[in-house]
Amino acid sequence: MAIITVVACLLLLMSGSCSAQLSTNFYSKTCPKVLSVVKPVVRSAVSKEKRMGASLLRLHFHDCFVNGCDGSILLDDTSSFTGEQTARPNNKSARGFNVIDDIKSTVEQVCPGVVSCADILAIAARDSVEFLGGPSWNVKLGRRDSKTASFSGANGGRIPAPSSSLSNLISTFQAVGLSVKDMVALSGSHTIGQARCVQFRPHVYNDTNIDRSFATTRQGSCPSKIGSGDQNLAPLDLQSPTAFDNNYYKNLISKKGLLHSDQELHNGVSTDSLVETYSKNPNTFFSDFSAAMIKMGDISPLTGSNGQIRKNCGKVNP
Ligand code: HEM
Ligand SMILES: *[C@@H]1O[C@H](CO)[C@@H](O)[C@H](O)[C@H]1NC(C)=O
Ligand SMILES: *[C@@H]1O[C@H](CO)[C@@H](O)[C@H](O)[C@H]1NC(C)=O
Repeated sequence: MAIITVVACLLLLMSGSCSAQLSTNFYSKTCPKVLSVVKPVVRSAVSKEKRMGASLLRLHFHDCFVNGCDGSILLDDTSSFTGEQTARPNNKSARGFNVIDDIKSTVEQVCPGVVSCADILAIAARDSVEFLGGPSWNVKLGRRDSKTASFSGANGGRIPAPSSSLSNLISTFQAVGLSVKDMVALSGSHTIGQARCVQFRPHVYNDTNIDRSFATTRQGSCPSKIGSGDQNLAPLDLQSPTAFDNNYYKNLISKKGLLHSDQELHNGVSTDSLVETYSKNPNTFFSDFSAAMIKMGDISPLTGSNGQIRKNCGKVNP
């Protein structure tokens, strides 16, 4: 039986789909304190600035959707290398890199050269959601860090754009093995954090599936003229932008989604009923969200002897 498994795995390895497994106890021998070392650093960053919890969650998402959860988003540009940080979905938008560096240097003091930056992103995302009042889950570990990053991958539609239609959203998630249910549950991340005028302007000026008074309010801090006030911020959840709850879904039902893509999930479409379920049952949302975060964290990790454990999250080891 064991032989059959090994042979099946070898065959699958050749087709690239038998990756070594991540596990919740990956560092139990090599860095048993990793979770307790990371948690207070995340806690202090999030209590200093609540939005940081949202920013850390988003970093993990943007990492995983481009060539898997491999820490590639953390690689800084150099004179001879352009990474993912200036790609359209990240440019002037992805944040929290300093917090990841703080966590990494704290972890390096305890277990040098052992814990990957990709795993730190996954842990920080989990801890952030928990601190802001959301669910917690057992985070799987054992990812290794990439030696490269992909500007074109990050720029090329693998990370969904806010102009996406429902079918675009479904297909970008399907492309990384996530279901429609995962997509709707993970979108509940927009119950925390902020978006820039440049991202929500078309929805608040040009769409008709939006509450008129909400649109007027948001227009107030986002001039219609393209290029003017582009970086002005508004909360993704108008009710409780620093609490991880199910208000995001309630907003969609009252046509107060901030992004075009948000409102696509409840617009007389197939996902309406799931949005309604999550709006009424926070526990169902929390458990589906946790399950989907674990699935997202499992997207094509580097394991075994692939990749490396970076010393500094922003740079490939010399
Ligand atoms: C469903 C497709 C999605 C689209 C189209 C989308 C798009 C966006 C956009 C445009 C912003 C604002 C960025 C800015 O203005 O600088 C944003 C923010 C955010 N997104 Fe998403 N997103 C999606 C899914 C997700 C998922 C799956 C997660 C997490 C698992 C997530 C987490 C966040 C968070 C937490 C913020 C706020 C970040 C902050 O305040 O720093 N999003 N998203
Ligand atoms: C990133 O944003 C800056 C400032 O808005 C802009 O000058 C630059 O061209 C952008 N980079 C890319 C690759 O789009
Ligand atoms: C609204 O749509 C029109 C026509 O497509 C376009 O010219 C205009 O720039 C859009 N306005 C905003 C604020 O997106």
